Amino acid sequence: MEKLNNCVGRSRSDINSLIVFLPPDMRTHSMRVGFVANEMAQLCKDKKRCFDCDDSQIIMKAMLDGGQYHDIGKLLLPDELVAKLTVLTDTENSMLAQHPAKTSEMLAEYFAGNKKSFDESYRNMVMDMGRFHHERADGNGYPYGLFKSEIPFSARLCSVADMFDNLVIIEKLSYDEAKKEILSQSGKAFSREELDLFTSAFENIVWLYTHKTGRTGRRTEARSNIARRAGGL
Ligand SMILES: [Fe+2]
Ligand SMILES: [Fe+2]
Repeated sequence: MEKLNNCVGRSRSDINSLIVFLPPDMRTHSMRVGFVANEMAQLCKDKKRCFDCDDSQIIMKAMLDGGQYHDIGKLLLPDELVAKLTVLTDTENSMLAQHPAKTSEMLAEYFAGNKKSFDESYRNMVMDMGRFHHERADGNGYPYGLFKSEIPFSARLCSVADMFDNLVIIEKLSYDEAKKEILSQSGKAFSREELDLFTSAFENIVWLYTHKTGRTGRRTEARSNIARRAGGL
């Protein structure tokens, strides 16, 4: 309970300070999810329609930050549950399923309590990535059971990136096997639009995973440039 109170208190001032409380593997997972979502978003040709925003810099920053924060609600769940590697009981599964809602609560608190003014589109994309990244195109996701285009596009990219990272890092599939698995989810977990972007970005994504150090450095630099240019974000 003390940890939870600390977390909620901190989120009012600076959510970035919470990232250090995530276990290291979850932190690196979250960072990669942001990078992969960002790679896909860069190739989107109709940003206005897909993201309801046509400012590329804002979209790119939202993808990176939304990826970083998407699982942060797990901080409000018991450590033993989040770290558990064996099969979860029904009760544990339903507790874990609360993390998207908890992420969005923490983000809402952060945005409301932070003096810095946030661009509205940026805020919506980041919140949507946290809140809806476990929805599925076929309506069998959670927590809302949304269908296809009911799921915000930023969350759909986050969801593809999340699954790809889990397949490669946790399931230890090769990049091609992971790609095949993701594409087999057409009409199930994912819709055609995000899968087309994933296919187009696939080589860049593999490059990102295989050149992690150099790529991370370049992206960190790119990220701070974006942040500088975007000003009020
Ligand atoms: Fe998640
Ligand atoms: Fe995740």
